[in-house]
Amino acid sequence: MRPLLIAGNWKCHLRHASARRLAEEVRQGLPQIDGILVALCPAFVHIPPVKEVIKGSPIILGAQDLHWQDDVAATGEVGPSMLAEWVEVVIIGHSERRRLFGESDEVVNRKVKAALQAGMRPILCIGETLEERQRGDTFIVLARQLEGALAQVDSPEGIVIAYEPVWAIGTHMAATGPQAQEVALFIRSWIGKKWDPQCADSVIILYGGSVTPQNMAEFATQPDIDGALVGGASLDSRSFLGIIAEAARAKGKPWGS
Ligand code: PGA
Repeated sequence: MRPLLIAGNWKCHLRHASARRLAEEVRQGLPQIDGILVALCPAFVHIPPVKEVIKGSPIILGAQDLHWQDDVAATGEVGPSMLAEWVEVVIIGHSERRRLFGESDEVVNRKVKAALQAGMRPILCIGETLEERQRGDTFIVLARQLEGALAQVDSPEGIVIAYEPVWAIGTHMAATGPQAQEVALFIRSWIGKKWDPQCADSVIILYGGSVTPQNMAEFATQPDIDGALVGGASLDSRSFLGIIAEAARAKGKPWGS
């Protein structure tokens, strides 16, 4: 039985005080949870204060990126071992990093391997652009991204895969439940073929892209979708908690008992 995972990607938002406040509100608003994983992924500078705020709660702390090497001359970067002292999960290969910073599948692969080696759980993001979808290349693109990102990875165990269609991120144009399910099933089968069906069955697959409390149930009711990676709606505690509650309800997980 896979857990439900809802991760908030705060991107390049908030200040020290507002990051603390948001973490505090999420902490306060979260009832007792069983079988539900909730992760917050603030910007690097907000990781220590958020860690302090969520101490003693079940909230998992995450980062939005990492460098693949420790102790190197790489100005501005944060290496895997130093990051692993602070967080349990790390988003890798987000489409904004691919698009704005030119991250290739090869770089994504180095980061996935480095995160695993340092003991962190990668949330690997993959997704097609609108143009690629319209050309009918969605599955070709996703297979290429999976193949690249997971090259020389012994087992996908512990890796979370987030399907984030680029056209749905920050656009208020979420995919439909069936569209996301079709891709989640494709990802699971791909993993089953590369490794084995049993480990494919254990991999957590998320949907991301304009998720709100209003549309969360549409995704969470799909059999191969195990939660969401939430951007904009995670910056407001009420909508983020609403998303978790909707997902819990759709998956039949106890909420608030
Ligand atoms: P969004 O972002 O929820 O604002 O669309 C999702 C993401 O980029 O992870």
